[in-house]
Amino acid sequence: MNPHPKRKFFRGVAGVLCWCVVVGCSENGTNAGESSTPTPITQISVVKDLPTEFKEGEEKFNAFCSPCHGTQGIGSAQGPPLVHKIYEPSHHADFAFQRAAAQGVKAHHWKFGNMPKIDGVTADDVTQIIGYIRWLQRQAGIF
Ligand code: HEC
Repeated sequence: MNPHPKRKFFRGVAGVLCWCVVVGCSENGTNAGESSTPTPITQISVVKDLPTEFKEGEEKFNAFCSPCHGTQGIGSAQGPPLVHKIYEPSHHADFAFQRAAAQGVKAHHWKFGNMPKIDGVTADDVTQIIGYIRWLQRQAGIF
């Protein structure tokens, strides 16, 4: 007599569960926003309406950051877009921006290589730059 009459049944259930996990994963993989290719978020066309309080931040961003992070933070061949969900305040707080500028960043999210520390930019400059980037992120509806 078969000592484990229910085994076949359980194997069937396990099979179905595995199948679900695999299919579920591949779906998540396709939908995840954090791929290694930067997906520039729609370019913001209202920059002419940039509030005066962010003008200096914009100038400093253009001088120090846009060569890699692109005009209006949309990314370039040298660096990722900062107007991107993964850089919203709850994922990358202002502190992460100060640290990036002062110490550089080891490549971990993307395939652009490391970000060097940025010489000649002060903590106050970065505070203004952050204000500008947060404004761009809000315009793009990121947070
Ligand atoms: C020489 C190119 C270059 C310049 C200039 C540059 N960055 Fe970056 N930055 C990068 C790259 C590449 C990454 C992505 C690293 C990775 O793979 O996560 C990055 C990542 C970042 C991050 C994410 C940090 C983290 O913790 O994941 C922030 C914030 C950032 N940069 C801010 C700035 C600011 C602000 C400036 C201007 C003061 C600036 N960057 C200038 C190339 C650059």
